[in-house]
Amino acid sequence: MDGNGRWARQKGLERVEGHKSGVESVRSAVEYAVEKGVKFLSLFAFSEENWKRPESEVFVLMELMVSAIINEIPEFNKNNIRFKVIGDRSRLPAKLQDKISEAERETYNNSVLTVVIFLSYSGKWDIITAAEKYHNYLSSNSGELSAQEKNELFSSFLSTSEIPDPDLLIRTSGEQRISNYMLWQCAYTEFYFTEVLWPDFRKIHFQAALDAYSQRERRFGKTGEQINKTSGSYEK
Ligand code: IPE
Ligand code: MG
Repeated sequence: MDGNGRWARQKGLERVEGHKSGVESVRSAVEYAVEKGVKFLSLFAFSEENWKRPESEVFVLMELMVSAIINEIPEFNKNNIRFKVIGDRSRLPAKLQDKISEAERETYNNSVLTVVIFLSYSGKWDIITAAEKYHNYLSSNSGELSAQEKNELFSSFLSTSEIPDPDLLIRTSGEQRISNYMLWQCAYTEFYFTEVLWPDFRKIHFQAALDAYSQRERRFGKTGEQINKTSGSYEK
């Protein structure tokens, strides 16, 4: 979700106004994901690097997160949506940590869509944390593992172990970078970049991204012929 600050500046507003407007885009994206039968919608809301922003902007973002949780969770429950946060939550203000735990608990059994908010997250942090756990596991377990088993074992130590790797990554505001997002998990993700700034992102933009995605042929390293022979084995 990128471009909140630029959106506000273009309108002669303070950057935080862009963040506030961005909440409406989240609401619309969640609604659209439900309409389209998307099972997991992940939103990169705040990176580890974002802690380096001016304290006043960080403060507003944290407050906004608290109020968004308070306002949206009843809707999530009404629509059978599960809420989950991934990231280094120990750095978040205590009030926000409490609200997150409460929201995760209250929506735990919801099953239509899982909305995952990445907060204080960095892909490198995720990999380093998993590597430490992987190392501990190998030190206390013997036996040869196949490449596939090593892959699965390592993935199980990532913060995303309970969610599938993303099929499609959408980045708004014209930036074409991964910016320390799910580095391991995006190995075979399809990327979609749009100039639209996050506060302007609505269902038609989401639809355009899904349309583009449906035109992609996902080969996962195989040849086009192999994929066409086993058509149906990958999602279009
Ligand atoms: C995305 O918008 C929201 C967060 C990273 C919190 P930005 O705040 O990065 O907006 P720009 O990139 O400055 O326009
Ligand atoms: Mg930005």
